[in-house]
Amino acid sequence: MSGEFRVGLLGHGTVGAAFAGQLALQAERIERITGLRPELCGVLTRSQGSFEEILERANLIVELMGGIEPAREYVLRAIAAGCHVVTANKQLLSQHGEELWDAARDAGVQLRFEGAVAGVVPVIRVIQESLAGARIDRVHGIVNGTTNFILTEMARTGATFAEALADAQRLGYAEADPSEDVNGRDAAAKMAILARLAFDTPVHLDQVRYEGIEQIQPDDLEYARELGLGLKLIGTAERINGGLSVRVHPAFLYPGHPLASVNGPFNAVTVESEEITEITMSGPGAGGTQTASAVLGDVISAMIPPASVPPAGTVLEIVHDVISAFYLHLEVADEPGVLAQVAQVLAEKDVSVKSVVQKGLGAQARLVMVVHPVLESRFAAAMQAISELDVMRAPPRAIRVLEEQFG
Ligand SMILES: NC(=O)c1ccc[n+]([C@@H]2O[C@H](COP(=O)([O-])OP(=O)(O)OC[C@H]3O[C@@H](n4cnc5c(N)ncnc54)[C@H](OP(=O)(O)O)[C@@H]3O)[C@@H](O)[C@H]2O)c1
Repeated sequence: MSGEFRVGLLGHGTVGAAFAGQLALQAERIERITGLRPELCGVLTRSQGSFEEILERANLIVELMGGIEPAREYVLRAIAAGCHVVTANKQLLSQHGEELWDAARDAGVQLRFEGAVAGVVPVIRVIQESLAGARIDRVHGIVNGTTNFILTEMARTGATFAEALADAQRLGYAEADPSEDVNGRDAAAKMAILARLAFDTPVHLDQVRYEGIEQIQPDDLEYARELGLGLKLIGTAERINGGLSVRVHPAFLYPGHPLASVNGPFNAVTVESEEITEITMSGPGAGGTQTASAVLGDVISAMIPPASVPPAGTVLEIVHDVISAFYLHLEVADEPGVLAQVAQVLAEKDVSVKSVVQKGLGAQARLVMVVHPVLESRFAAAMQAISELDVMRAPPRAIRVLEEQFG
């Protein structure tokens, strides 16, 4: 199979422009995967393009304009014309989802929307496909990166809500008009969509109760810290007494909760069910590049015929020698100059020490150190050389240290 797959793009803003760039960059790879070469067949903004002309040419419409109208009208017209549609428009889906899904079902086309909830975190696909066999009891989510960034900053620095919001705007985590983020309505729209999918029941944005974070005071967070609690804006959708509750409000979390450690602009969604116990997915919740990547993933999925097998793409070399930091535990003789000998071996092998402590005396003497990230093969050579030193009372022990900082 080969040929073109024509993509009509409605909206060329933060996400739309990033999507157009990624589509062009990855067209060749996508052709290898799908057998079809994706090409933009038109772009619509307020000042350029004609929807009618784009629709005439397109196999698939990507809607990244936002808002209700004319996005709703264009999506319905695309579906009626037999085009697949990909959108990231949570407001549209949370208020007119039933109408759009019915239309897509009747027309036999796909309507995909991974980018509408939690950015590139693949919650829609996981709930719709991977967990289709599970009876979901509850979905908890941190689904708004702006508010999570603000609450993280307030807890970290003692800043007021207004100060943390100003920081979020300066760093590009909040829009010029952040009202739907901070009053909880954006998260409510996303929870309506998640609830719709998780519980197979229509859920309209108007049915979601929501509170925002504007009222949170710095001392709320101070007390929370003393109690070991973290404050998050949590969306919840759960079965209660045979019904369904969908809500968004600030909530304290104990440190062990899977969402407690989700900081900064990150999003996370936890799905609970008897069959699967609990699954948490997390990652960057928004941003043009990330959302565009989710949109492109949807486009590729729509291009692949159902039940296709994984394509044989480029053969990648398997890499075994990776870079890691290590914790190193050495049982050594209690005599002068031991540390110097070990340090010399490490220096010869180009392994640099981040921290070191000497512990115990006599038969209990130990050196415990953490070394900076290093190629594992080089570290293994250093370990071999250390094990051959006369001052070693036992073989050296090492454990990798994950140094990545998230959020
Ligand atoms: N930004 C994010 O991080 C993010 C994350 C997840 C989901 N989303 C969703 O993605 C969608 C796009 O967001 P965005 O941030 O990319 O928005 P944006 O930067 O405001 O861009 C919107 C684009 O749509 C065009 N547009 C708007 N109304 C139009 C109309 N009536 N006719 C023709 N063109 C119109 C605009 O045209 P002009 O250029 O002429 O103004 C602009 O090119 C929204 O549904 C949003 O909720 C965004």
